Amino acid sequence: MTDHILIERPETAPHIQVIRFNRPEKKNAITRAMYQTMTDALKAAEEAPDIRVHVFLGTEGCFSAGNDLADFLAFAMSGNMGREVIDFLVALARTKKPVVSGVDGLAIGIGTTIHLHCDLTVASDRSLFKTPFVDLALVPEAASSLLAPRVMGHQRAFALLALGEGLSAAEARDAGLIWKVAAPEAVEAETLSLAAKLAAKPPEALRIARDLMRGSPDAVLARIQEEAEYFAAQLKSAEARAAFEAFMKR
Ligand code: COA
Repeated sequence: MTDHILIERPETAPHIQVIRFNRPEKKNAITRAMYQTMTDALKAAEEAPDIRVHVFLGTEGCFSAGNDLADFLAFAMSGNMGREVIDFLVALARTKKPVVSGVDGLAIGIGTTIHLHCDLTVASDRSLFKTPFVDLALVPEAASSLLAPRVMGHQRAFALLALGEGLSAAEARDAGLIWKVAAPEAVEAETLSLAAKLAAKPPEALRIARDLMRGSPDAVLARIQEEAEYFAAQLKSAEARAAFEAFMKR
């Protein structure tokens, strides 16, 4: 458990569990402990009959700067990726309950790819979605190499995942990565209101509708594993280590 992730049950929105990134001093970069806390929270909420919707939120001006680069450097030095990231991605891909997210500001790396697993995302007009995987000598993760081309077509996905081009909130909406753009001060309320609307639907009908639209998670789970193997190999590369060290030394 870490207070860098807050697990909240908003009074105004019963039947919703919010997982909030709460490490603003590090732009909500995600550590192994944070992944573990999120996995535990997702799994617990899946089993809890009174929780009907998962919500991801960040802090003011920042959703998440992605995986903690100090952790990446430690992985690069030790050669051991750990299970936390994969366990989280698998838990996310296996959710049976709808997932809603609200973004205000930076959404980097997994801060972007997480929304491919969300059903509705609201982002503020000052948000930036960016995945500098290849610039860090890494490869796409979270099954984004499968889901992003499906959602937005090969060329837009390639610009995002390989070229490392950022998307504004409006571009992310036009690409189908998110649903709505809102003013920064309205993001949380809109996100929780959407989640509350979903939570008020007949849960079984909602679950079946979502399952039908998402299809079997098998291909997504297989791609998460396949990407992870390349990712782990690249993490150990000299080019990746140089990129993390350069960031840490800034
Ligand atoms: N991992 C670890 N620490 C991070 C981080 C990350 N992914 N992103 C930001 N931080 C830390 C910075 O090191 C800094 O810490 P310090 O104050 O102790 O020096 C703090 O968060 C603030 O970041 P800073 O870079 O000063 O803010 P900024 O507004 O100038 O830039 C970013 C924000 C997100 C553009 C920039 O921090 C960045 O590029 N981060 C790396 C993003 C990334 O590559 N993520 C991995 C994707 S796979």
